[in-house]
Amino acid sequence: MTEFIWKGEPVTFLEGETIASALRRAGHECLGRSANGQSARYFCGIGQCQGCLVSTGDGAPVEACITRAMPQRIVEPAFESMMERT
Ligand code: FES
Repeated sequence: MTEFIWKGEPVTFLEGETIASALRRAGHECLGRSANGQSARYFCGIGQCQGCLVSTGDGAPVEACITRAMPQRIVEPAFESMMERT
């Protein structure tokens, strides 16, 4: 297993696993806040609802449910990170 960093804490993942899957397996159901201020979380699992957006530091937020986890990547709640930068 390898790890990425979620809110400063390591999260292990299996090869090919998505960020959302690894976070759920680790017990992280809440992914921060959504764009409208509600709790961001896994919902559709196919990249359509935008409910699982996270920041990986590479530009625009990505859907955690369809984005593969990468070793040592720093992942943060999407909109909390954006709010802190403004
Ligand atoms: S859970 Fe719907 S886009 Fe990820």
